[in-house]
Amino acid sequence: PTPVWLDCDVGHDDALALLLAAYHPQIKLLGISAVAGNASLRNTTANAIRVLQAAGIEGVKVYPGASKPLVKPSEHAADIHGESGLDGTDLLPEPDYEKYLGTDKKAIEAIRDVLMTSEEPVTIVAVGPLTNIALLVSVYPEVVPKIHMLSVMGGAIALGNTTAAAEFNIYFDPEAAQIVLQAGIGHIAMVPLDVTHTVLASKAVIERINKEVAEPKFAKLLTDLLWFFGSTYEDVFGEKDGAPLHDPVAMAYVFMRDAFSERFMHVSVDCSQGPCNGRTVCDVKNKSKLEPNCYITTAVDVDRFWDVMIGALVEAAKS
Ligand code: BDR
Ligand code: CA
Repeated sequence: PTPVWLDCDVGHDDALALLLAAYHPQIKLLGISAVAGNASLRNTTANAIRVLQAAGIEGVKVYPGASKPLVKPSEHAADIHGESGLDGTDLLPEPDYEKYLGTDKKAIEAIRDVLMTSEEPVTIVAVGPLTNIALLVSVYPEVVPKIHMLSVMGGAIALGNTTAAAEFNIYFDPEAAQIVLQAGIGHIAMVPLDVTHTVLASKAVIERINKEVAEPKFAKLLTDLLWFFGSTYEDVFGEKDGAPLHDPVAMAYVFMRDAFSERFMHVSVDCSQGPCNGRTVCDVKNKSKLEPNCYITTAVDVDRFWDVMIGALVEAAKS
């Protein structure tokens, strides 16, 4: 299995990315860092811990990282994920901080130590704003050559979801995203909205989860979360076919890259203060002649994705 560090702002779709990491046989989840994004750092940390507990995941710590973006003020996504960041169910336990909170070091120290000491190359999957990762590569540049791959859910070639131009994770902290893209990391993959909007947690998907996940309380927890996520997508965007399950798609890239189409190109982030703030400028036609720095995924095999995603949920329910 590939050793993976997960950086996240749990979040409905982050929660499923976490479960995929913990229960897919080709991933070994080393640790988790939380970042402010969908909700406050306090809430995203609590949410990560609550999901670990609910799924009976042992031996994984959650390290709280950045509590705000590098430059901008925080603009959380309560309209999409609720005030807690993970609204919609009463089946999540109260967080057991004593067992799961990493208190021996800061998040970026924990990631650095894992990168510097692991015998096998470590992959980072980042599915929230990139603040922690920008701090990591800025404070400890020696880790850059040690990052085997960074798989990011973020950005868009075309549509934005937070402004007309920008996707949430990048919009929340554009400066951080730009630092990460320019850091010289050997393999950055980005799963943009253009791809995640093909992976919808539709009614049929939710029914399948209900049927296949054998433990009724855990199945209810999952379907509660997906219903809530779907309902906010309908309220906010008028999208009736189910919420796009963004974050687990970036996790799936780690072990089934062959299910994706991708193109290597130069990507930069608009950090100007105009209407395009936070936009990922994807140089699809190489107009800038700048060196490519990012594998932008352009499609994924959706059926294959759901098979592995639901397979992981079925495994999670057994423990
Ligand atoms: C991204 O923003 C968050 O709401 C989701 O968790 C995902 O990471 C999608 O734009
Ligand atoms: Ca997220």
